[in-house]
Amino acid sequence: MAAASVGAPLLGLGGAEATLSRLRPPPPGGHESIPLRRSAAAVAASIPRRRESLRSAERASVASSRKTPTRAMLGFPSLCPTSLPSRQSRGRNNVRRRAPVAAALLELKPPPYPLDALEPHLSREAVEHHWGRHQRSHVDCLNAAIAGTQLEGMELEDMVVAAYNKGDPHPPFVHAAQIWNHDFFWQSMKPGGGGEPSGRLMELIERDFGSYERMIKELKHAALTQFGSGWAWLAYKANRLEVGNAVNPCPSEKDNKLVVAKTPNAVNPLLWDYSPLLAIDVWEHAYYLDYENRRADYVSTFLDKLVSWEVVSSRLENAINRATERAKVDEKRRQDDDVEATSRKPVEMYLDSDNDDSETE
Ligand SMILES: [Fe+2]
Repeated sequence: MAAASVGAPLLGLGGAEATLSRLRPPPPGGHESIPLRRSAAAVAASIPRRRESLRSAERASVASSRKTPTRAMLGFPSLCPTSLPSRQSRGRNNVRRRAPVAAALLELKPPPYPLDALEPHLSREAVEHHWGRHQRSHVDCLNAAIAGTQLEGMELEDMVVAAYNKGDPHPPFVHAAQIWNHDFFWQSMKPGGGGEPSGRLMELIERDFGSYERMIKELKHAALTQFGSGWAWLAYKANRLEVGNAVNPCPSEKDNKLVVAKTPNAVNPLLWDYSPLLAIDVWEHAYYLDYENRRADYVSTFLDKLVSWEVVSSRLENAINRATERAKVDEKRRQDDDVEATSRKPVEMYLDSDNDDSETE
């Protein structure tokens, strides 16, 4: 009945092979995939120009962050890779002042409402800081980190799984995952949100948690007991796990049910092949400007005043449809395997035995 709260960091299974080749296709109408793609030719043709553009944007981002003491105050880590050439290392003749470049491989996706729309529960200042600075920094850094790599041009959701690298994350992982997580987080809220869910979502909550109140209690517990930075999630555990990315955090749970989980840093349920339904950002930067260190007040306000159960319901329907389609594919694969195994069976031949009694008389 109760869903498992998952607190331990994920454990890698080892072995990096096949990570990129085993990516699942985007679910039909599934998670809110972030459109990133261009044609391969267009991407290849623009790489040199974009690399220089990203370096310029990177310099502008770093300069901007130096003017912002609140970044250090909120404990946001140093974001960008150190592999980018410094101005000095490129020589004086190559130093040019360029304006920051707006266009990049991946663009910062705005919340689906005005930045002041969540007031008085989340102030415009807090949203601007959270989205406009923190998330933007991840976008800038990811674009710089993936240029010219196998991750470039990949769907963001697939990039998260690939960059996690079975528990031995590549540097772009934190940026890709935090962008995905934040887009998902903003979409999880709406002005005038809160209340209680209805329809199939409520039915499954009552089935899997016993009651709505019990689910809220577990979700709050996950959000408040996540040590340090991280996320609390409501997710739909589908009928199979195939990513090979991490130890299944709910090995004893039944399939096709709702679960509550908490994750450290940028980790999210995509790594377990679960379908995330709701995300609560419990990094301090998410609430410090409005709630200081009162994480409990922030989490309660999120669930009472901001959460969009309509969005969660829509995600649940997509998750169930995805699980259903995958079950059909699994069944078809099993049938094909059975047919193939049968066709390979050697013909059994029964030879007359020397001891055949019928011939002894
Ligand atoms: Fe955040």
